[in-house]
Amino acid sequence: MTQFPLSPFLPVCALLAGLMLSLNSTQAQPAYSGRVMSLLRQMSLEEKAGQLNLQAGHDVGFDPLARAPITSPQVEQAIREGKVGGVLNITGAQNTRQLQLVATTQSRLKIPLLIGLDVVHGFRTIFPVPIGQAASFNLDLISRAERVAALEATAAGINWTFAPVLDMARDPRWGRMVETAGESPWYTAAVGQARVRAFQGDQLSDPSSMLACAKHFIGNGATEGGREYTGTNLSFRSMRDNELPPFEAAVKAGIGCIMPAFNAVDGVPGIVNQRMLSEVLRKEWRFEGLVVTDHGAIAELPNHGVAANLSGASRAAIVSGVDMDMASMGFGPTLPDAVRSGALDEALLDQAVLRVLAIKERLGLFDDPFARHDTAREKQLVGHPDHALLARQLAEESLVLLKNDKALLPFKRSARSIALIGPFGADQDHLMGPWEASGIHREVVSLREGITRVQPRISIRTVTTGYDDKPDAKALAQAVAAAQASELVVLALGEKAMDSGEASSRANPGLPGQQLALIKAVARLGKPFVVVVMAGRPMIEPALYALSPAVVQAWFPGSQGGEAIARMLFGLSEPVGRLPVGIVRSVGQIPLTHDKRPTGRPSAGPPEAWVSGYIDEATTPLYPFGFGLSYTTFAYSAPVLLDHDDGDATGYRIKVTVKNTGSRAGTTLVQLYTHQRLAAISQPEKQLRGFTRLYLNPGEQADAIITLKRDELSYWSSETIRQPAQGWIDVMTGPNAGETMATALFVQ
Ligand code: BGC
Repeated sequence: MTQFPLSPFLPVCALLAGLMLSLNSTQAQPAYSGRVMSLLRQMSLEEKAGQLNLQAGHDVGFDPLARAPITSPQVEQAIREGKVGGVLNITGAQNTRQLQLVATTQSRLKIPLLIGLDVVHGFRTIFPVPIGQAASFNLDLISRAERVAALEATAAGINWTFAPVLDMARDPRWGRMVETAGESPWYTAAVGQARVRAFQGDQLSDPSSMLACAKHFIGNGATEGGREYTGTNLSFRSMRDNELPPFEAAVKAGIGCIMPAFNAVDGVPGIVNQRMLSEVLRKEWRFEGLVVTDHGAIAELPNHGVAANLSGASRAAIVSGVDMDMASMGFGPTLPDAVRSGALDEALLDQAVLRVLAIKERLGLFDDPFARHDTAREKQLVGHPDHALLARQLAEESLVLLKNDKALLPFKRSARSIALIGPFGADQDHLMGPWEASGIHREVVSLREGITRVQPRISIRTVTTGYDDKPDAKALAQAVAAAQASELVVLALGEKAMDSGEASSRANPGLPGQQLALIKAVARLGKPFVVVVMAGRPMIEPALYALSPAVVQAWFPGSQGGEAIARMLFGLSEPVGRLPVGIVRSVGQIPLTHDKRPTGRPSAGPPEAWVSGYIDEATTPLYPFGFGLSYTTFAYSAPVLLDHDDGDATGYRIKVTVKNTGSRAGTTLVQLYTHQRLAAISQPEKQLRGFTRLYLNPGEQADAIITLKRDELSYWSSETIRQPAQGWIDVMTGPNAGETMATALFVQ
């Protein structure tokens, strides 16, 4: 750790003076209950700092997710001594009950514990990874999945999830794209609200509700070069457009916790970004919940070079607006002395403690600390078969059909043999993706098992080829032979679970190892084949899309994923997923989103000099945002404004007529985009503003009506001014961001 010869938190303290003033003068105190206030009055400085300490619920060396009972004398002793406000990474009604018992019966003040876990896409029943869920564009299904996640996790003792992730994903090099809802701030906000409401339920005190924590505040998805844990230089105004709206939406949905990001924005790490934590979050949005650091973030401040040591970092974080310290062991050991020496105002410590206690009260922990530690309920609910059905449904809806030459899919159910080739055909270890919580590998339905369930009599030739760089001529020959000998050929390719997610940024996010060589070898046979891509991000691999007659983006589809994919391949379900992120042609195009802004020298698309773009690459993505094929075809009409230009009080209704022009019934996702032609700040060429699904029989035609909300048309003309829409607005509709038709409305 770098040592600084200066004052322990010199670079930050100058920033802090202003904040302390504002905290004392202008910030309205929420009312706390008599119980909470009385507890605070009884607490020693050590007990106060202890409440702000969130630490591992197990000792180093224990399996944090062990399902067998584990005891940890050290952790229990710390809880007994009032040094712990919450624990993380421990599950199971019995394990967690034991810790809650120590807290509520053996510590002096008997304050219950927060018990947190990253329940990011399911607890034991694992749903598709969030980017896959987002591809369903089915908010109802996403909500139902998160409700199940909450039911299972709370039955296993968890009262707090570190989700949803509301980062914008605009760079596939960044591994955590997998945890997001993609590149649209508007859609991310909608998905975020659905998740928050599902996790937290109608009442946070209900034993099946858990505290949600929106993260990572802010700019995590924009880190330079897609490098994990790196900083970014977003302007505050541009964050108003993109990064902030999902978090504001989560606050409006009643979220109880926010987690600042590891990364710095313009040199200021998330946990000391007082402009964000105090000015925006607390004052502007009136957020009264809890702010918890990311794992070990306080201890990392010296590495950023904005605090000299752990005590300086701890003071800087609490003064900037952090309430709880996750795993740095900074607050507990250092804040009491900081108060005693006069370096920290005790009022700030009190404020953080009040927020922690208030959240515990809202969770009902003081009234019934054991409501979520019921082994009978755990046995009944965790991994319930009904949950598996929902996981399969959501997995089906997450699948995006990118290419389907000559209607290769769906396969004929009369086929008698299939070759299943690649690293992930029989795999049960990677389909859940990162953040598998308490998911169990052997319970995962592999693609092979899925095909067997859907087509019990088909003969499957499985060839498991490697994932690493070493060429394996024998496996390749076996794969080619299996393909040659079978009626149908499926290549199950992609990424390992841990090659997406946190700490998995990739400079070249294509198919790892020898997988492209495999595609080439099979393609040489001249026989149609389908590639199913399991990955946390779209693969930037032009040859994959060029050589394969059919490609399905399956993300990490979760514990029921194999059956979901098999059902789609054989036409028992239809592909309804659409891309929540566009797929770029090459790494050099990053970032390229549907909501890029116009330039002074627009490009027509192909490589060209003297316009905005490249001389060696197109300016369009390979697959645009919102893209996904169906098993049928649709014809879209141009949008029609149903209201006069002024719309009604809330907004404008837009009608699109769509006809199913194919021979199968199918679903299309009608998408609505807008663009304000003239504004003080150049406005994005397209911004997703609405969508709706239409299910149509062959030859059937129907109208989709989408409402464009008036207030959503406003934009940030400066850091603090939100400008109502004015003048001509292009209103565009279509099946994806790359294929739209337009009309225009004039806003007075
Ligand atoms: C991640 C967070 C996560 C935390 C606790 C961190 O490394 O960035 O997203 O909630 O760990 O597991």
